[in-house]
Amino acid sequence: MPQATPAALNLVLIGFGHVARTLVHLLDDRRAHLQELGLPPVRIAGIATARHGCVLVPEGLEGSRAVSLVESGGSVAALGRAGDVPPRDARALLARAGSLVLEGPLVVLETTTLNVRDGEPATTHVKAALAAGAHVITANKGPIACAWSEIREAAARAHRQLLFEGVVMDGIPVFNLVRDTLPALTVVAVRGIVNTTTNYLLAALEEGRDMAPALAEMQARGIAEADASLDVDGWDAAAKAAALANVLMEARLTPADVKRTGVAHLTTTDARAALDAQCRLKLVMHVRREGGRVAASVAPERVAAGDVLAGVHGTMNALTISTDRLSDLTVIQHGGSLVETAYALVSDLVTLWRRLAPGTVSAR
Ligand SMILES: NC(=O)c1ccc[n+]([C@@H]2O[C@H](COP(=O)([O-])OP(=O)(O)OC[C@H]3O[C@@H](n4cnc5c(N)ncnc54)[C@H](OP(=O)(O)O)[C@@H]3O)[C@@H](O)[C@H]2O)c1
Repeated sequence: MPQATPAALNLVLIGFGHVARTLVHLLDDRRAHLQELGLPPVRIAGIATARHGCVLVPEGLEGSRAVSLVESGGSVAALGRAGDVPPRDARALLARAGSLVLEGPLVVLETTTLNVRDGEPATTHVKAALAAGAHVITANKGPIACAWSEIREAAARAHRQLLFEGVVMDGIPVFNLVRDTLPALTVVAVRGIVNTTTNYLLAALEEGRDMAPALAEMQARGIAEADASLDVDGWDAAAKAAALANVLMEARLTPADVKRTGVAHLTTTDARAALDAQCRLKLVMHVRREGGRVAASVAPERVAAGDVLAGVHGTMNALTISTDRLSDLTVIQHGGSLVETAYALVSDLVTLWRRLAPGTVSAR
């Protein structure tokens, strides 16, 4: 007998910063596409933040009102039902959400601030969400880089999906690409430029501009991490290296295991000297199998003019995947933005629905 389509996909947003707020707009913008694909309506049932309150409304709340409230410095708790006591924090919200009887799956989208040391608070949120019976989608590389085997096992035990397409190249497929289109191959290495902010800073140096105003520009555009030293000192790229190593190469690395040099010490003189030598100065990430282990590094390098990475300018990113049978495959992102990251969350929602209700999703 065919299963009835549930009334809604019930989203709980843990973190309501640049990415999550952009997602609210993108979900509105893509509604017709999602409907055409066969997804049930997407409903925002809860939001948790650090300083802008928490709210849980099982019938769903108006996302655009939550965006306006937060962007004007207010609290999302104002959207709660009269008489309801708002959850005090994300964990309390998740515990409450887990006890609701909902028509349709509960999906937690984790987009709190990146912490490369231990992946917290995101790792705890992911575990709490799985324990509450939710599927989890995250754009936060912390848990994938710091606690991959633990959360993968927790998701398997809970029979829930854990998806994270946006953690390396925003909306450009990386994990989907390998999983869905490169079967029966072993990934032996990945190499790339994976941090937009530092690539933009190095381009500014080449143009004779100082790093500080270029960094301020990246912060104003919401692309630099809340703590910009995570970009500048190579931590963000190291976290991506660990995530790629863990997921694609079965490693057990954390960002601290990645050999790392940032870009803070570089000057316009270094960038010009590289150009004079027919090279480009780039922050390059490498992950490779060495003997029986997987090793990863992030450091500035002079990249020769003929190298595919030499053409990756400004806000572009690129990743070359090497396997044991095919020739190298490079994916290039022409300009990262918040919409690209929010799109990764939307694409994960579609993947989730394809897995939960195979046969109900149209092929497009
Ligand atoms: N921005 C990008 O282009 C991009 C690209 C790829 C991946 N990512 C990843 O996506 C995630 C979100 O990025 P973003 O730019 O949206 O960050 P953001 O603007 O700094 O927002 C972070 C959000 O997390 C909330 N938060 C922090 N700690 C929390 C806690 N303990 N409980 C509940 N909420 C908490 C903050 O609440 P308050 O607002 O109240 O402080 C804020 O709403 C990060 O992990 C980042 O690495 C970002």
